[in-house]
Amino acid sequence: MTEPVIADKAPVAVEVEAGKNYFWCACGRSKKQPFCDGSHDGTGLQPVKWTAEASGRKFFCACKQTAGQPLCDGTHNSL
Ligand code: FES
Ligand code: FES
Repeated sequence: MTEPVIADKAPVAVEVEAGKNYFWCACGRSKKQPFCDGSHDGTGLQPVKWTAEASGRKFFCACKQTAGQPLCDGTHNSL
């Protein structure tokens, strides 16, 4: 399995909608950060499905090192 690459060292703010599914890019290779665009093909990595429980602004991890996938947990501060 390939390691994820760092897409950015800061999270991406997204206005999410309650009940909607989102597919977070875990590999770091997507051109549509923070979400999957299929670029993980061949890496052995897969996107992470996440369902919004409530509407509002969420901060998605772009460094791909978070322990709380798919959301930022502050780990990017130590990169
Ligand atoms: Fe990164 Fe799909 S492009 S997980
Ligand atoms: Fe990855 Fe914050 S952007 S932990």
